[in-house]
Amino acid sequence: MESQKHVALTEAYSAHNYHPLPVVIERAEGVWMYDVEGKKYLDFLSSYSALNWGHSNKRFTEVAKKQIDKLHLTGRAVFNDKLGSFSKALAELCKLDVVLPMNTGAEAVETAIKAARRWGYEKKGVESAEIIVFDRNFGGRTTTIISFATLGEATNNFGPFTPGFKVVPFGDLDAVKSAVTKNTVAIIIEPIQGEGGINIPPDGFLKQLRELCTEENILFVADEVQTGFCRTGEVFACEAEGVLPDIYILGKALGAGIIPVSAVVGSADVMEVFRPGSHGSTYGGNPLGCALGLEVINYIKEERPHQRAKELGDWFMKELSSYNLKKVKEVRGRGLMIGIEVSKDFGDAYQYCLELAKLGVITKDTRKSTMRVAPPLIIEKDELAYGLSLIKKVLQ
Ligand SMILES: Cc1ncc(COP(=O)(O)O)c(C=O)c1O
Repeated sequence: MESQKHVALTEAYSAHNYHPLPVVIERAEGVWMYDVEGKKYLDFLSSYSALNWGHSNKRFTEVAKKQIDKLHLTGRAVFNDKLGSFSKALAELCKLDVVLPMNTGAEAVETAIKAARRWGYEKKGVESAEIIVFDRNFGGRTTTIISFATLGEATNNFGPFTPGFKVVPFGDLDAVKSAVTKNTVAIIIEPIQGEGGINIPPDGFLKQLRELCTEENILFVADEVQTGFCRTGEVFACEAEGVLPDIYILGKALGAGIIPVSAVVGSADVMEVFRPGSHGSTYGGNPLGCALGLEVINYIKEERPHQRAKELGDWFMKELSSYNLKKVKEVRGRGLMIGIEVSKDFGDAYQYCLELAKLGVITKDTRKSTMRVAPPLIIEKDELAYGLSLIKKVLQ
């Protein structure tokens, strides 16, 4: 089919989808996607956690439609009537003071880097700001962010890179301590690494890192673009260890999968380093994004989807582990953010994702060896069980 050929070409050249599954989707609802020929697929990926509330969820599409007909963009010369209520609700949800809305996750990561650096110069009094990050991190695709990436294909021949970052092994507190200098302004961490392979730090690591940051006057910056908004069984993954960051970086599910909405949320002491003219974005804080973000927060408060994610995720991982499948090396995850590592003897995870797609379940490999399972949090237990039964079939 001519149109499919074009899709294939576009996918082949797009940087973020280097292993496209040969499936062309036309419409979707809830946890189900339908291809151009009407075949249905269970979505076990949720657009990398942007679709936590499912496809075409009427609660959000109705809000979007109403808001589009009323007001969708003002620019930053004036305020819009949704910005205040959205910012207040998000700051409260995060237990922090100030919200700076942006669009994509990468923009929010960039914004947090700028906030931390300026805070370092103006408040901490450093000479040349340094930021500590972890190997196998993923924060997006901009030139500064890839400057501290450790995934080869994300960085090859894109240099020269932005200086000012030190990379240490994920979960290694001693390595962090050795990397700290008087110029360290921030540590940026994904509380569970998503693109890096669904990596969970050792128990107590986040808490110890928080203590270290407080002792050394370093900002604890949590990149919860993927883990945030209920995916891991808490509203924010840092909450599992009772950690409150100085800055949250948020995105993906905040826009309900309808438009990109991201935000940097921080304490007033940090965020006040942004003054008029310091930072901005044409679409950042637009009324449509704010209306959707506000509805997402109301939904979380009313429905508590993190509890559902926890119960279903615990059940899924226990059940899967009990099968002792031949091709599975390890099952790891929290809530409905789950990685299934395939034993080296049985090849890459991608081939099993492909087999699953043929059977009607969409998953995606991460770091080649791990199959990621992250369905929308609205999934019913029987739907999850159905997907699990097919995973069992391909990995036994
Ligand atoms: C932890 C994390 N941070 C940042 C990003 C970048 O978000 P975006 O793709 O919206 O720029 C991602 C995307 O997957 C992510 O997983």
